[in-house]
Amino acid sequence: MSSLLSLPERVDVREVGPRDGLQTEQPLPLQDKIAMLAALADTGVTRIEATAFVSPRAVPAMADAAAVVAELHRWPQVTWSALVPNVTGARRALDAGLADLELVVSASEAHSRANSGMSPDRALAQVSEVAGLVHAVGGRLEVIVAVAWDCPFEGRTPVARTVDIARRAAEAGADQLCLGDTIGTATPVRVVRLAQAVCASVGGRSVGMHFHDTRGTGQANVLAALQAGVTQLDASVGGLGGCPFAPGASGNIATEELVYMLEECGVQTGIDLDRLLEAALVTETAVGHPLPSSLYRAGGRSRPLGPD
Ligand code: COA
Ligand code: ZN
Repeated sequence: MSSLLSLPERVDVREVGPRDGLQTEQPLPLQDKIAMLAALADTGVTRIEATAFVSPRAVPAMADAAAVVAELHRWPQVTWSALVPNVTGARRALDAGLADLELVVSASEAHSRANSGMSPDRALAQVSEVAGLVHAVGGRLEVIVAVAWDCPFEGRTPVARTVDIARRAAEAGADQLCLGDTIGTATPVRVVRLAQAVCASVGGRSVGMHFHDTRGTGQANVLAALQAGVTQLDASVGGLGGCPFAPGASGNIATEELVYMLEECGVQTGIDLDRLLEAALVTETAVGHPLPSSLYRAGGRSRPLGPD
């Protein structure tokens, strides 16, 4: 623990750029995705969400999910996972060779219908079946509660509603939970409040957080989450990202900004910042437009990196 702030010794960062980062982009050629995955796998990050098994009509950029998964054996040092919206997606992901899955359940009715074509109750009813499939192959199931703080259609999500979804997901077999700030509206005090309420209701399961930096509160939310005992965080290389079914959603907190802040505070991530900046360059080249990350533009502290 740092003596000045109440920080953990280590934070487990999951890189979600290949999924959340790319899902709103034009579909990339497979070889560009592979270059991005290779660069990310070389950074020391231990968990990467590689893709999503969703409808190719809904998210054309993820249509090659099985082809992406077929390449992942090249990097056995990484625990790879994929996002799924339903049982169909889970079966496709497991058939492709994955074991660890993230199943999304939206906390609001309207986002749930826009994102997955079903109500939160119906989405929750799938958790036990997906958990059974995942556990049968020795994998872990995480349930991501989307719009955990706010919904773009319904406004504030009541704390009790998010807690209820997380609790029912845990009871139905989720091994861990993640709270998604899908539209980047969360602020530190609300982060602590929700972390405390959810952690107290999920039977000791680990609760991670997934922040978008849409309103510049991403890093403040990270610090608040750490104060509340959270040690699992999602981030996206270059700050790429956004939900295609949530108007106004933009990029995740940038992995390199997260790693920079944590390591400077004495919190280990196991991720090499210079290599991460190289992975950001590979990503920027692949998507063909500037990445939102401030640190990527500024460069690390010791040497400038990134294009002019
Ligand atoms: N992967 C691929 N295809 C799928 C699928 C999946 N996970 N789930 C359903 N489908 C197919 C169905 O088989 C059906 O195909 P058909 O038209 O050829 O018969 C078609 O998609 C429509 O299925 P339906 O059950 O009517 O669902 P829908 O049209 O309401 O779409 C989802 C539901 C979940 C498939 C779609 O909303 C989706 O893929 N959403 C992804 C959301 C997302 O990625 N959000 C960002 C991350 S939070
Ligand atoms: Zn997201």
